[in-house]
Amino acid sequence: MVVDEIHRSAPIVLASNRGPVSYRLGEDGSLTAGRGGGGLVSGLSAIGPEAGAVWVCAALGEGDRVAARRAGRRLDAADTGGQPVRMLDVPAETFAAAYNGIANSVLWFAHHMLWQTPLEPSFDAEFRAQWAAYEAYNAAFAEAVAEEAAEGGCVLVQDYHLTLVPGMLRVLRPDLRIGHFSHTPWAPPDYYRLLPDDIAEQVLRGVLGGDRAGFLTHRWADAFAACCAATLGAEVVRTADGSAEAVRFEGRTTRLGVHGLGADADFLRERSRRADVDAWRARLREQVGPGRRTIVRVDRTELSKNIVRGLRAFRRLLEERPQWRGRVVHVAFAYPSRQDLAVYRDYMAEVGRTAQEINAAFGTEDWQPVALHLDDDFPRSLAAYRLADVALVNPIRDGMNLVAKEVPVVSDDGCALVLSREAGAAAELGEDALLVNPYDVEATARALHEALSMDPAERERRTKRLAAAATALPPARWFVDQLAALQES
Ligand code: F6P
Repeated sequence: MVVDEIHRSAPIVLASNRGPVSYRLGEDGSLTAGRGGGGLVSGLSAIGPEAGAVWVCAALGEGDRVAARRAGRRLDAADTGGQPVRMLDVPAETFAAAYNGIANSVLWFAHHMLWQTPLEPSFDAEFRAQWAAYEAYNAAFAEAVAEEAAEGGCVLVQDYHLTLVPGMLRVLRPDLRIGHFSHTPWAPPDYYRLLPDDIAEQVLRGVLGGDRAGFLTHRWADAFAACCAATLGAEVVRTADGSAEAVRFEGRTTRLGVHGLGADADFLRERSRRADVDAWRARLREQVGPGRRTIVRVDRTELSKNIVRGLRAFRRLLEERPQWRGRVVHVAFAYPSRQDLAVYRDYMAEVGRTAQEINAAFGTEDWQPVALHLDDDFPRSLAAYRLADVALVNPIRDGMNLVAKEVPVVSDDGCALVLSREAGAAAELGEDALLVNPYDVEATARALHEALSMDPAERERRTKRLAAAATALPPARWFVDQLAALQES
């Protein structure tokens, strides 16, 4: 049904940094295709190849670059599950400066409010060179999309890597309908203005080049509009309840949309009942020990995910409430992310050290309080979701956070959710989760105690309501809603 709705729409081009496939280059020059990772890819992949959209993405590593060169305009359909994909062979240095330098060290830090002033940020000559690379990388996308898009077609540009693309495309192809969607939070104006003035302007002008700008929650849409007013002097159009619904600037109107990407219930329920997940569940149960409770977390080891404070909160729980010693295990999956950046590598080491300290301080011969796993394994994560008594999701800031939405959907016996009030998901799940200030380690420890002590019937009731809220806008619907909104604008 969803595909029918897409077919009734104008032809579509998707543009995102990470695409639906990634390639590993063997020593003998052979290429092995695998699935691209992350929430954005899952959301966009949900419509499937039948929708006929062309997906433009970047070559991220050497394997991708070789594949893109060998393939030419389209990747081999056998590697992409039939999805038409154009992978851009952006030079390695340009990509590194745009992705690591600007997208992940500047824009990501701004929107997640991660800078530790007075040491960071520092906008120097190196930053300016990286910015030039970011412009070139955005221009490569805009040119490729301009070539791919049919007359009057729809273009959906994704995320902070590609903020300049809507504005560039508007110049190249004024006939197109252009939408941009942010999967991150948007920084509030007082934080956003830490960016150099010309860059702050350029990013906003870039997004405003589109007909629509989409966000995961009203909070992020309002912050974007507030930045447009503060930085550009743009006019913000509001609904009766005061939410920003459009931004008018230099004679154009960009409408704002809020589309809260939900969990894919059908996929998760089916996938989490397969034999490999059953086997992992049994193994994890054995590792935790019979009768013990489990507090589970699953994250990319990402600075905004706040894993170290989560571990410290668990430590406080054991210090303050000795009744839990020997009776609970914190199963933490913290898999590698953005390891080209030293700050991420250091953070990963800090996560490991903190877990070891807890185990050294409290562990006994037959009980290890923290079971930390640093490698990514999707079936094992699903098994942990099923087993969890408590899920800890405590990001400093997060666009949405799909883990918070996935756990209640697959939980076997109900799971209490301790959730950061700074995650976008809190807007939808706040009533039945235990909300915490992510910086408040003491309050997080208290919430963990409350979650572990929750009456099982209450926990089950809450889990059901959480699952219903979490699946309200499944990925395919999320995609179609954005598209319909773009066509109406
Ligand atoms: O949160 C924004 C986002 O693009 C997610 O959709 C995705 O899971 C994550 O960042 C991936 O980041 P990267 O592509 O750097 O691994």
